[in-house]
Amino acid sequence: MGQQTLGQARRKGWILDLRITERGEPARGFVLLKAEPLEGRLPECRPGQFAQLQTRGAFLRRPISIHNVEAGRVWFLIQVVGEGSRWFAMLKEGDVLNAVMPLGNGFPMPVAGARVLLVGGGVGVAPLLYQGRMLKQRGVDFAFLLGARNRDALLQLDEFRRVGRVFVTTEDGSEGTRGFVTQHGILSGTDEADFGTPTLIQTCGPTPMMRAVAQSAQSRGIRCQLSLENRMACGVGACLCCVQQTKEGHKCVCTEGPVFEAQDIIF
Ligand SMILES: Cc1cc2nc3c(=O)[nH]c(=O)nc-3n(C[C@H](O)[C@H](O)[C@H](O)COP(=O)(O)OP(=O)(O)OC[C@H]3O[C@@H](n4cnc5c(N)ncnc54)[C@H](O)[C@@H]3O)c2cc1C
Ligand code: FES
Repeated sequence: MGQQTLGQARRKGWILDLRITERGEPARGFVLLKAEPLEGRLPECRPGQFAQLQTRGAFLRRPISIHNVEAGRVWFLIQVVGEGSRWFAMLKEGDVLNAVMPLGNGFPMPVAGARVLLVGGGVGVAPLLYQGRMLKQRGVDFAFLLGARNRDALLQLDEFRRVGRVFVTTEDGSEGTRGFVTQHGILSGTDEADFGTPTLIQTCGPTPMMRAVAQSAQSRGIRCQLSLENRMACGVGACLCCVQQTKEGHKCVCTEGPVFEAQDIIF
């Protein structure tokens, strides 16, 4: 999708009111919202795309990944870090949330025969659930590698296990392999745990994690795509506040991303 304006988004029906149908707290400091449109159906959404969610009080919308789309509902997995996310966390079933969606390009679908490792850290696991579901639907061989500080901070593990094979790392070793995702044998190449060498890595998480994942992939000659979470304001290519330095110059993460080839990014 090229540069969009809010007016264009409105005409195409991308601005919609969503009614919260379910609310959960998958871990301390995180909220899971499931929502359906008040009118009509959800627009078609691709994994890796995001929504700009309106908050009460704050002037700017907040970008939140599409965590899943299932049975006509969109899911958002949100970490409470400030005013906007605190407001999302206070929403209850029946409340209405205004969204501009879907925005951004999303993860490219890999070619047939690919073996894909989806690597997520913290709330960066959010867009990977939907990507995993789409890969499964297309019969692509894939696995998740999910990292968190400790067992309690692992998000939506049951949902990920429902979709595919899951490898876990925790920094304190309370679940899975102790350490960071890059220290897991499947990523470092020391123990590929019956999965084999990935042909493609798709990742989302904190910048230092994605940088390390990209370096690890590069050192093994594996193609890597990452989903950036630069701070955003307009979300539609108008304010340039989300620009990222790349080998081809500055790019808007909201319209030209958030998914980029790792080799193009200058961290
Ligand atoms: C494409 C995209 C997808 C995202 N998907 C999700 C998601 O699925 N779930 C989720 O919880 N968050 C996601 N984020 C991050 C989310 O947008 C921010 O956490 C949110 O905007 C914070 O708003 P706030 O008002 O709660 O906090 P603010 O008061 O705006 O900020 C609170 C603190 O969080 C930091 N912060 C704010 N935005 C970011 C950011 N983008 N990256 C790192 N630190 C930030 C601030 O520097 C500050 O320290 C995504 C961001 C992008 C760009
Ligand atoms: S957030 Fe305004 S241009 Fe990307």
